[in-house]
Amino acid sequence: MKEIPLREYLAFLDSQSPADFRDGTADEFLAGHCLPEDELAPFIFFREETYGRNLVAKSDKYELLILTWLANQRTPIHDHFGQRCWMTILSGELSFRNYETPKDFNAPLVPLGGVQKVGKSNQVYIDDTLAVHSIANAAKQPAISVHLYAGPVPRCSIYNEKAHKFETITLGYFTYLGEPVLSTHPEAHQ
Ligand SMILES: [Fe+2]
Repeated sequence: MKEIPLREYLAFLDSQSPADFRDGTADEFLAGHCLPEDELAPFIFFREETYGRNLVAKSDKYELLILTWLANQRTPIHDHFGQRCWMTILSGELSFRNYETPKDFNAPLVPLGGVQKVGKSNQVYIDDTLAVHSIANAAKQPAISVHLYAGPVPRCSIYNEKAHKFETITLGYFTYLGEPVLSTHPEAHQ
């Protein structure tokens, strides 16, 4: 995988149409390129109460986030608002668990396979046609992951494990372009 400056990475994303993000052009680029860790450092903030959603860049076509994970932090089971998501692990190891995408909010959850552990420099692709999923840092060390969403994901559905059904939440950020903000939801996630 070739490392390129953030400026070039964003220039490519900005040059893509919404259709390009769907037809494989972006897939090829994202599979072959990654970002230098030192350029991402200003956007890496860990959060004590839940994992951190740190916005690096956003347009009407995409959003780029760094998610930070202390030990045992996890997302609820969630969808992606119909958008595509490409994720790369910058450091540490994350555990993924997939479930069949439910036909409606009250349908029971059906697991797809077991837990998938993903380590440094590995990539994961997910969209709602494949599965809904949860992500956890089951390791003892912190983890950092880079997530590109096309287009942006302003809200999503999360599975309420007590009520056994999905509910919609609005997503917020822990930091926005390197500056702290208040999250709009305590479990804001992806
Ligand atoms: Fe996700």
